[in-house]
Amino acid sequence: MLNLGILVSGGGTNLQAIIDSIESGYLKDCSIAVVVSSRSGAFALERAKKHNIPSIVISRKAYESIEAYDDALIQCFESHGVGLVVMAGFLTMVGEKFIEKYRGRIMNIHPSLIPSFCGKGYYGIIPHQKALEYGVKITGATVHFVEPEYDSGPIILQKAVEVRDDDTPETLQKRVMEEAEWKILPQAIKLFSEGRLVLNGRKVTITD
Ligand code: GAR
Repeated sequence: MLNLGILVSGGGTNLQAIIDSIESGYLKDCSIAVVVSSRSGAFALERAKKHNIPSIVISRKAYESIEAYDDALIQCFESHGVGLVVMAGFLTMVGEKFIEKYRGRIMNIHPSLIPSFCGKGYYGIIPHQKALEYGVKITGATVHFVEPEYDSGPIILQKAVEVRDDDTPETLQKRVMEEAEWKILPQAIKLFSEGRLVLNGRKVTITD
């Protein structure tokens, strides 16, 4: 059984996609051991509660240093026997200590085709605003392993989504979530749980 630790900050639709994938049997031998939110008001916490999943708020503001924050996260995940950490709309920075501890076992979903519209300051609706301003015809979502620099880690899966002439940031965000994020995040977790992701330098290959 692979125990998942899910990091969230907001609405939790990606968390919901993981919950649904477990309940439908798409994700086998996976269980959400704990949901950690960086914000007390996050609706993701309600979703966890509804499905009887343990949840906790670990806010960056409550810790003096990034190391102390990392320690709190590590302690939480260790106490729940977490084997894979999933950043599912997690908008708080973690430190190198946390990343060292879970290197190759932390993935993040980002709402663009990395390396476009990513990096510091690109989160939530912003990558969609920037994509529309730039005039790209295709955007999408990326699941990648996490490294200390924002959105820089090895890419696991990407899915493209067409941009429409009448898109607003909100309509584009919704379509990217529905057509890409909610599919490739569970898919990446499934591949990891089946031991099918091979990390070689910054390249991820998927074995049969
Ligand atoms: C998602 O679009 C996710 O890709 C994005 O935040 C949203 C969270 O939605 N993450 C980032 O921007 C990370 N850089 P959710 O809380 O409904 O899953």
